[in-house]
Amino acid sequence: MEKIKRIGILTAGGDCPGLNAAIRAVSKPAIVKYGIEVIGISSGFSGLIENEFISITEEKLSGILTLGGTILGTSREKPFKKKSQYIEEIDKPNLIKQNYDQLGLDCLVCIGGNGTQKTAFKLSKLGMNVIGLPKTIDNDIWGTDSSFGFDSAVNIATEAIDRLHTTANSHKRIMVIEIMGHETGWIALHAGIAGGGDIILLPEIDYREEVIADYILKRVAKQGGATIVVVAEGIRKPNNIGAGEYISKVITGLTFMESRVTVLGYVQRGGPPSATDRILATRYGTATLDLILKREFGKMVALIDGHITTIDLENVAGKLKLVPLDHNLIKSAKSVGACFGEKDLIK
Ligand code: F6P
Repeated sequence: MEKIKRIGILTAGGDCPGLNAAIRAVSKPAIVKYGIEVIGISSGFSGLIENEFISITEEKLSGILTLGGTILGTSREKPFKKKSQYIEEIDKPNLIKQNYDQLGLDCLVCIGGNGTQKTAFKLSKLGMNVIGLPKTIDNDIWGTDSSFGFDSAVNIATEAIDRLHTTANSHKRIMVIEIMGHETGWIALHAGIAGGGDIILLPEIDYREEVIADYILKRVAKQGGATIVVVAEGIRKPNNIGAGEYISKVITGLTFMESRVTVLGYVQRGGPPSATDRILATRYGTATLDLILKREFGKMVALIDGHITTIDLENVAGKLKLVPLDHNLIKSAKSVGACFGEKDLIK
């Protein structure tokens, strides 16, 4: 088998805790143990289009395991997406292939979410040796039980909900907290359970406004005013308003009770990775290097039932991992009294 001499690595899409841990886990053994040269591509796929990169050395990897963000930078550049059918644009995929060849890369490691894995697959079809590594706070990547970044985000959201409980209790208020997750409700479901959310709204479960109001009124009659409403950003709502703001207005409109909104936002993506994410990113990174050494390209590393495995990028690209309606966590949350806004929860 031809020896691997030089690999490229990039982080693309929204950042999350654990990216540096993953870069370190691929690069450190590659450099130290196998004498492979590692090129860090700047700002996701933009760096491959504009030929911007750095040489990753052992020194550059020191102290980054615990560091949030990404030392390489990232961007939402989607090289296969045309901005307009009327404007003549540069052929970005072709430019990427040219720069990949010119850099003499034996493989390109693409650390990213759904969009990144889709791009990685398309690049592999152009003849590049590509391996995908799943990251996102949203946990919505098909083919893996977990992506790193998710656990850190759940911890941050849970702590925020904990803090809302005390102020909600003092004022007997309804507190609405909007949680990230794009089109899925993984973070809201996990943090909602961990933080003891009374109402948890997920994009996957269609809610009815009167069910939410009815739940709150019965709760207030029974045990006073404080209610925590955990809302995933991707729930059904009008376009011109945030999910949390909308649900708060709905609640006030139907119950005549005041509510306050917290939009947790980007703090969920910032700061150091949790221990779980450091470990997962390290497992993914070392497994990625194993694949590179075996020249097994066109795959994404994945976690299934606690074990590291791989899945063909072809089977990941373009898919979205939603919370299944029969997920055991939904069942558990319902058992402890949480309301998901569905009709059958009116008691
Ligand atoms: O995919 C991670 C995520 O933080 C989502 O939860 C959120 O919807 C989106 O990115 C925000 O994107 P941007 O960084 O482009 O504002």
